[in-house]
Amino acid sequence: MSEFHSANKSECRKREKVAARADADSPFFPSSGNGNFLTQTLEKWEMSPVGLFLREFINHPREIGAIVPSSRQLARQMASFVPVRQKGVVVDLGAGTGVVTSALLDQGVDARRVVAVERSPRLAGYFRGRFPHVKMIQGDAQLLDQLLEDQFGADYGGVDFIISSLPLRSLPRSVVKSVEQKVHQVLKKNGRFIQFTYDLRPASLWTFDRLTHCDSHMVWRNLPPARVDVFRSKQGGRLKVEG
Ligand SMILES: C[S@@+](CC[C@H](N)C(=O)[O-])C[C@H]1O[C@@H](n2cnc3c(N)ncnc32)[C@H](O)[C@@H]1O
Repeated sequence: MSEFHSANKSECRKREKVAARADADSPFFPSSGNGNFLTQTLEKWEMSPVGLFLREFINHPREIGAIVPSSRQLARQMASFVPVRQKGVVVDLGAGTGVVTSALLDQGVDARRVVAVERSPRLAGYFRGRFPHVKMIQGDAQLLDQLLEDQFGADYGGVDFIISSLPLRSLPRSVVKSVEQKVHQVLKKNGRFIQFTYDLRPASLWTFDRLTHCDSHMVWRNLPPARVDVFRSKQGGRLKVEG
């Protein structure tokens, strides 16, 4: 072994000893006997859904649009618009850590009907670990038609429900426009697009060319409170939108 390596090794050992002593001596962060208590706690927290979500928010604030995942009440409210007994595909758009999918499954929706779409590789990875039996497509909602065709084949016939948690108010306008087009394209006739917003003013209601607003519900138990809006597709039928 070279002199450089052995000198380096002994320096490392010295540093480890100093760090271990500092841990043991700290009145605030007692040593757990297995590394630094604070580091371990932070690592665990980072791997928790809230920690993971917050970290993604710090890195991509406009795409995440919220500092914590939706509450169970909000997720339940969105899921409640999907009839359990009906067949047909349900897309959880912007699935994040999976609160909406969890509410759908709790409600009794067959896992084989659910397709989650999430842009962030970290959140998609977390989702897959949490719901190994649910299809997760890691990709951009702007390519929704393509992603679904790749998954089901060109003749899959469209989707019945899209539950979207995409932060439409913070995403760039061009992104919102192309997501909107793709939603129109993939929804079947009478299919539902379910979207929540933190903007509670009545005037904040989205208007879409080919979707009719058909229901709204307030959810106070969320941070911040939110309104769920439901839109029905007037045309549907795997429409090809020009432009
Ligand atoms: C407000 S969070 C909602 C997460 C989760 N559904 C919930 O309710 O807690 C928005 C999610 O949309 C995802 N997202 C944002 N832009 C996206 C895009 N273009 N395509 C797919 N997912 C996107 C974000 O990564 C984030 O996970």
